[in-house]
Amino acid sequence: MRYDIAPLFCRPWTLNGITPRLIESHYENDYGGALNRLNAVTEELEALDPATTPGLVVSRLKRDEAALLNSTLLHELYFASLGGDGRRLPEEIAAAIVRDFGSVLRWRQEFIALAEALAGGSGWVLLTYIPRDGRLVNQSATDHMQSISGGIPILAIDMYEHAYHLDFGANATAYIAAVMRNIDWEAVQTRYRNALKVEPPPKLVQKQWPDLPAMTVEEVKSMLDAGQPIQIIDTRPRHYTTRAQDIMESAVWRDPERVDEWIGELSKSDPVVTFCVYGFHIGCETAETLRKAGFDARYMAGGHYAWKAKRNPVKLFE
Ligand SMILES: [Fe+2]
Repeated sequence: MRYDIAPLFCRPWTLNGITPRLIESHYENDYGGALNRLNAVTEELEALDPATTPGLVVSRLKRDEAALLNSTLLHELYFASLGGDGRRLPEEIAAAIVRDFGSVLRWRQEFIALAEALAGGSGWVLLTYIPRDGRLVNQSATDHMQSISGGIPILAIDMYEHAYHLDFGANATAYIAAVMRNIDWEAVQTRYRNALKVEPPPKLVQKQWPDLPAMTVEEVKSMLDAGQPIQIIDTRPRHYTTRAQDIMESAVWRDPERVDEWIGELSKSDPVVTFCVYGFHIGCETAETLRKAGFDARYMAGGHYAWKAKRNPVKLFE
């Protein structure tokens, strides 16, 4: 793999309060430098035999490769973030920011605070879209390596001193204000629209029970907290319970092999929630059996361990 230099995205002579000299130096020396080092490291990696090269050598080169790759990607994003007037946010990106930050002002204050916190240090501040959650977050990355997994950055400010020293000396505050005055929001919105096309990671699907209603552990917890009537049945298999030490606080354990023996204890007027160890088969099977018998039953996704992983209360299982 050979990485090609990306042409400068913004037009330096149009920027307000940032000189072409600064952008030229940044593009040529820092972006160009990272790209050339990235190609050198890539070449080294391609030339070595991973079967015989010491692991430490491979690992060091891979770490350099990741840092340099991120540096080139983030520099390209940074140069593509500039060139607008920083003021008018197009409707769609403005609505997304209001949805996720409360207001554009609040977003702006948080973004600037993160940048100010890197003054005198180094790093990036990014506005990033996370497909899993369908939302935007601001993040600060104190080196090239801390990008959010699966996140798609759509706006970047470079807070390495080389990004501002020529024009602003050590005055990072003036530099940050200048960048904010030059954000190209149309380009940010285009990247946001592209990011929206990325599907979230596939969710766990219980293929055998496509129509069986599930509840999350959070939903079950809030029903309990609200004092709503709910019958919770732990249906972990008998062989499993012999080594189990705890049980969800509001649950009773019933043997999933003997539903006929305990089904009579349940009330048809209140909802029933069943679950097993991880939330796969047994809890689903039992919920389905109960539904066929006329109960409003559903299974708790993630089962016993999801309940515990949320630090919800358990009691001793006797
Ligand atoms: Fe830079």
